[in-house]
Amino acid sequence: MSRDLILGIESSCDDTAAAVVDADGQVRSSVIATQTAIHAEWGGVYPEFASRAHVDSIVPTIAKALAEAGIDARRLRAIGVTRGPGLIGPLLVGLNTAAGLGMGWGVPVIGINHLRGHLRSADLEQKRVRFPAIILLVSGGHSFLARMTGPGDIALLGSTRDDSVGEAYDKVGRMLGLGYPGGPVVDRLAATGTASIPFPRPLLAEGLEFSFSGLKSAVSRYVDKTPAAPTADVAASFVAACMEVMLSKCRRALDAFPSAALVIVGGVSASPQLRAGATTLCAELGVELCLPPLRWSTDNAAMIALATWDYLQLERPPRPLPQLNLAIGDY
Ligand code: KG4
Ligand code: ZN
Repeated sequence: MSRDLILGIESSCDDTAAAVVDADGQVRSSVIATQTAIHAEWGGVYPEFASRAHVDSIVPTIAKALAEAGIDARRLRAIGVTRGPGLIGPLLVGLNTAAGLGMGWGVPVIGINHLRGHLRSADLEQKRVRFPAIILLVSGGHSFLARMTGPGDIALLGSTRDDSVGEAYDKVGRMLGLGYPGGPVVDRLAATGTASIPFPRPLLAEGLEFSFSGLKSAVSRYVDKTPAAPTADVAASFVAACMEVMLSKCRRALDAFPSAALVIVGGVSASPQLRAGATTLCAELGVELCLPPLRWSTDNAAMIALATWDYLQLERPPRPLPQLNLAIGDY
């Protein structure tokens, strides 16, 4: 029997996920045990509860992923598990479970940078990314632009000085009483409102760095001072500011570094407003837009498994140890 599949495990934040993926990015199974209901009460991820929920669900989630793929461990070439960035408790649950299974099964265990997982999400099911490419990674933990001239060659162009855009969405969702996570609900509400409030567009005219904390505070001040304002208009105005910032930075990066493709990944790449805006921008500039299918935008283990194939090919050291502060260029 050939060892032609990888088991990916993701537990860096509030989703316990396992997936089986082949070397071409075809997903044989993907299972996600989400903790949204546990954290909704707190309006954000409560780390200790996240760790405990991972402990409860990780083995059943992995068992289900193997069963749905119709395979056992003898088909596994490796186990790829997120080693960071993320919350230490949740990361340790994934890493320790992977270590135990790898030892028992005689399968190598490789620690994977979650950000490289997001990057590879755009090639799941179908190869989409073309080089040179500008990458916009926008998630709950990160917001940055990078440039890739080839599969292994990535350079950071600019990242956020404070909050990520996903974090701003989550905080605004909480201010408007919409629950957690804020992204999808804020987007849905925004679609029904008018972007009539002139919220700031931080660093709009400057460079390739981002800043979202001033925008978040401006929304908070506005909501405090104007309690009668229609929430749909607040959401629409906030989303309009986020879109203008993200899309104008993409345009600036593409102007500075002419590229074949714009790749947008991370949880916020699920935003219909961002997808529509990026489609228009890329059509105007004659650049290919590479987006992961919606289900691979937010955290999942299939992207971790696909990234694992790269680590094997490059013969990276396995390092199945937690590392909280990984940047996109790290492994
Ligand atoms: O990549 P991800 O699942 O987890 C991290 O690695 O952080 O991203 C989660 C973030 C959350 O902040 C969530 O509010 C945001 O992605 N998000 C969205 C949408 N869906 C998820 N933001 C905007 N629009 C969406 N439709
Ligand atoms: Zn993520």
